[in-house]
Amino acid sequence: MLKEIQNRRSIRNYLPDEVTKEEILDILQAGINAPSAKNNQPWRFVIVSKEIKDKISEKMVELYGPNKTAEVIKTVPYLILVYNKDNEYFNHLSIGAAIENILLETTNRNLGSLWIGYIKKIEDYVKELVNIDLELVSAIAIGIKNEEPVARPRLKLEDVLTIIE
Ligand SMILES: Cc1cc2nc3c(=O)[nH]c(=O)nc-3n(C[C@H](O)[C@H](O)[C@H](O)COP(=O)(O)O)c2cc1C
Repeated sequence: MLKEIQNRRSIRNYLPDEVTKEEILDILQAGINAPSAKNNQPWRFVIVSKEIKDKISEKMVELYGPNKTAEVIKTVPYLILVYNKDNEYFNHLSIGAAIENILLETTNRNLGSLWIGYIKKIEDYVKELVNIDLELVSAIAIGIKNEEPVARPRLKLEDVLTIIE
C-alpha cells in the first residue's frame, strides 16, 4: 500500500505556524489531478481569510456548542471550501476523489489535514460570507500537525468484500 494511504490521519490539533501559500497551491494541484466523470472537473476551491474562518467557527459553536470541528476551523492556518460547479450526476464522487488526493498530498508533505463535512450544516451562513453561488460540498483544513493520532479501526476486508465465483 502507498505509505501516504497508510499514514494519513484526520488531524484535529494544529500548531499556529504558517504554511506557505505556494505549498497550499501545490497541494491543490494534486486535487485537480483527480479523475472525474467525463473529465468534467466539477471541483471549485476557495481559500478563505482568517476573518471568515473565525466567523464560520463561531457560528458552529453558536449552533452546536463547543466542538472539535469548530476548534480546528478556528486554529488551523488554512481552510479551503470545496464547491460543486453544477448538478451533473457524478460530481460528488469526482469531488471526493479530489479531496482524497489533497489529503494524501498533505500526508506526503508531513502536514496535517481534516476533511470537514459538517460545514454543510451551515451552508446558508457560509453563503452570506462567501459570495459564491455554488453548492458547498465540504471543507478541508490544512496545517502543521500538533498530534500523531493512532489509526482508527477499520472493518476487515472480508467484512466488506463479497467474491462471487
Ligand atoms: C465525508 C467526510 C466528512 C467528514 N467530516 C468531518 C468533520 O466535519 N469533522 C471531523 O472532525 N471529521 C470529519 N471527517 C473525518 C472522519 O471522522 C475520519 O476520516 C474518520 O473518523 C476516520 O479517521 P481517519 O481519517 O483518521 O482515518 C470526515 C470524513 C469524511 C470522509
